[in-house]
Amino acid sequence: MRLPEPVLTPHVKKPHGHTLEHYLQTGGYQALRKALALTPDQVIEQVKQSGLRGRGGAGFPTGMKWGFVPKDSPKPKYLCVNADESEPGTFKDHVLMERNPHLLFEGCVIACRSIGAKVAYIYIRGEFYHVQRVLEAELEKARAAGYVGKNILGSGVDCDIWVHRGAGAYEAGEESALLESLEGKRAQPRLRPPFPAVVGLYGCPTIINNVETICNVPVIFDRGAEWFASIGPEKNTGPKLYCISGHVARPGVYETSMDVTLRELIYDYAGGIPGGRALKAVIPGGSSVNVLTPEALDAQASFDGLVKAGSMLGSAAIMVMDETTDMVWAATNLIHFYKHESCGKCTPCREGSDWMHKVLQKILRGEGSMRDIDLLLGIANNIGGKTLCPFGDAEIAPVVGMLQHFRGEFEHYVREGRSLVPLAPWRAREPAGAHAH
Ligand SMILES: Cc1cc2nc3c(=O)[nH]c(=O)nc-3n(C[C@H](O)[C@H](O)[C@H](O)COP(=O)(O)O)c2cc1C
Repeated sequence: MRLPEPVLTPHVKKPHGHTLEHYLQTGGYQALRKALALTPDQVIEQVKQSGLRGRGGAGFPTGMKWGFVPKDSPKPKYLCVNADESEPGTFKDHVLMERNPHLLFEGCVIACRSIGAKVAYIYIRGEFYHVQRVLEAELEKARAAGYVGKNILGSGVDCDIWVHRGAGAYEAGEESALLESLEGKRAQPRLRPPFPAVVGLYGCPTIINNVETICNVPVIFDRGAEWFASIGPEKNTGPKLYCISGHVARPGVYETSMDVTLRELIYDYAGGIPGGRALKAVIPGGSSVNVLTPEALDAQASFDGLVKAGSMLGSAAIMVMDETTDMVWAATNLIHFYKHESCGKCTPCREGSDWMHKVLQKILRGEGSMRDIDLLLGIANNIGGKTLCPFGDAEIAPVVGMLQHFRGEFEHYVREGRSLVPLAPWRAREPAGAHAH
């Protein structure tokens, strides 16, 4: 069933929609009461029944992840909410935090109770200063009203929530690097196993979940696991936020369910491409996934639907490129980001991203050779699967995808020394070579 109405974002446009008062008026914290009446195992069972899969990128089943926390461990347990939101094109989590913070707090308390944690950390990216202010102000109110803190709603359950702002690094969103950063160290990934559910923050069992994942938890207890499981296609259940950006008339965050197609998202929700121009390419899951062509427009924008189409749902950031897009420029722009953000721990990623950037710049300057195109694929082959974290796979995905679908554009640069695409008006305003830094 298609989601009949928004449940994560119904009040985000109201001026006071983010306040505790408004949250309570609209039925907030009722899910917490219901969850507190269940045992932790029953809560995990309900989350499993709902079919909720993580919204941070990989789509891992949330209930199953919570079940990995060892019950007999004498160590403290932690929940870390991943609010780093640094994937290019992704801007949904900060909407939830800024405009519906109590949904997140309610989800945190339910999740903590189910895994036996008394503390949750919300790790937000360095640039989200304004989000931190909203979260902390509302958190104070939730504490004072007894929804967070000691003996929550008289149940004997303790759970406090702390907001931690990072220093602004894409890699800090990778779960093991996030834990390092939270411990006060440089955000670099850890070797796994052991996985964080067993050895996580300060060596203790830790669950890391995306903001949107945790915001879905109260919805499960509010409406019932069965209702949740009935929304969207099988195994791709529940409400879903999409961030649509690029060459569309109405970029923004849209809430629907995963039975929606890319065509519906781009043309119905986001108003299509302005100026009657044709669609050239879509990156459907944040920049770290394969690019798709218009042939894939009728693919379901779900975890499984986009894998079938040759890409991934990732962070559900749909980046739309029309016919004026120079794919060689786009590939160079993206690899520049990854080169800049590589944490430097693994040699293939650190050296390979810089090398790929240099080769792409050479092609873009009109100085490349056909061998350089194959060299790009060779370097990518030496990065993919050879790093401690999935950053390596992420950085090669857009370049390999663009080479796969638009190789002719790269070859045209080599043969003619210029783009196959007439210079778009917005690029004509750039100083010469501005894109080739
Ligand atoms: C380089 C990199 C950056 C990531 N950034 C984020 C992020 O900003 N937010 C997020 O939720 N997950 C991010 N992830 C995924 C996390 O490692 C992890 O899978 C996720 O937080 C798990 O939450 P979920 O089970 O709720 O999806 C990133 C992964 C990688 C490799």
